[in-house]
Parts: sequence; C-alpha cells; structure tokens
Amino acid sequence: MKFFADTADTNDIRELADAGLLDGVTTNPSLIHKAGRNFLEVVEEICGIVDGPVSAEVVALDYDGMMREAEVVRKIADNVAVKLPMTIEGLKACKALTDDGTMVNVTLCFSANQALLAAKAGATFISPFVGRHDDIGFDGMDLIGDIRLIYDNYAFETEILVASVRHPIHILEAAKLGADVMTAPPAVIRQLVKHPLTDKGIEGFLSDWAKTGQTIG
Ligand code: G3P
Repeated sequence: MKFFADTADTNDIRELADAGLLDGVTTNPSLIHKAGRNFLEVVEEICGIVDGPVSAEVVALDYDGMMREAEVVRKIADNVAVKLPMTIEGLKACKALTDDGTMVNVTLCFSANQALLAAKAGATFISPFVGRHDDIGFDGMDLIGDIRLIYDNYAFETEILVASVRHPIHILEAAKLGADVMTAPPAVIRQLVKHPLTDKGIEGFLSDWAKTGQTIG
C-alpha cells in the first residue's frame, strides 16, 4: 500500500521523505490555508521533494473553470495530480484530463456509487473520506470494502486512495481491505512506528549491553 502525506507542510514532507516513507502527497484548500503559503509555490516545492503524485486541488465548480485552473496546476510539474470534486462538472473534467494523460484525484467521495462514477470517468485516484464518515456515526471502512469489491468486479484501474485518515487503525484496516493508497497527516504516519513493547525491548537490550562493557567499533 502506498503512503501519501496529507499536508502542505514542507518540513514534515521532507522529514518523512528522507526516511523513505513517502510515495506521494495530497493537499487541499484547507491544508494550503493552514500552511499559509502561496498555493503554486508550495505545490512546486512539494513536487521537488517527492517523486510520486502530488495532489493539488482546483477550486472552480464549473467545467471551463476547472479546466482553466487544471491547466495552471498541471504545468507545475510532471508529478502533479489534479484534484477535482465529486460533481458532474468534476467528472466531466476528470474524463477530459485523464484522456489527455493528466493524473486526476477525485476527492470528497462518500459513497460507493460516487467511486463507481469516478472509475468510469477514468480517475487515477478516488479519495473516499473515512474519518468524516466516522464523524457522523458511519463506518468509513465499510465504504472502502464496498469500493474494493466493485473495482475488482470490473478490473477498474482507478486506485483507492483512503483519505480523511484519523488514526493508525484506519491505515491498518485500509491495508487489510487492499486499498491502493492511504493519505494521512504526518503525525498519524509517525504513530505507526510506536509500540510500548518495542520501547521496553530496546531499553532492556541496551541495559544488558551496557553490562558487557563492550562497544561496537
Ligand atoms: O485531503 C483530503 C482528506 O484527507 C482531508 O481529510 O482530515 O480534512 O477530513 P480531513
């Protein structure tokens, strides 16, 4: 399963990329606002940090506006994926852009039927938001399972990019269900490596090693 960081914080992205943990990045207008930087500049910087897909979202709601903004965004770098909303206009733009060889990430997906439409429109990625599903009392991972089944039934090539990830269990369940990608805040990615027994084991090994009085090298 590919790991994307869901952030526009280039320091976090650089740190995780240097650790070899990143296959891509997703941004959205809220993350750009949080970063407090120029949209095009920060996306260009991110595209230079990671080789994998970097999602950059258009904000127009009409087809012509989306295509106009997509033209600006996709010129930033070859690894830009244009992020489009799950609307009729977004699906129309998705078809046009993917037919032209541009990566598209269809975002704000909350149903398997929406994911089916995105796959039929040729989306590179579909972003079902599991955390926001959980927030209103539904199990977001059920959505991932439904999409996986449907995509496998018809051998759709659209990649399931699990988004709105809130904690490590979302990542675990996404991997068990066979999602292609997960995107998570850097803090959640860092949580994955943590286990108290690992910490305790390291402490115990180092304590016993110290008693040997030896050094390595
Ligand atoms: O970037 C898309 C998605 O991951 C946003 O998630 O945390 O705003 O629900 P969130």
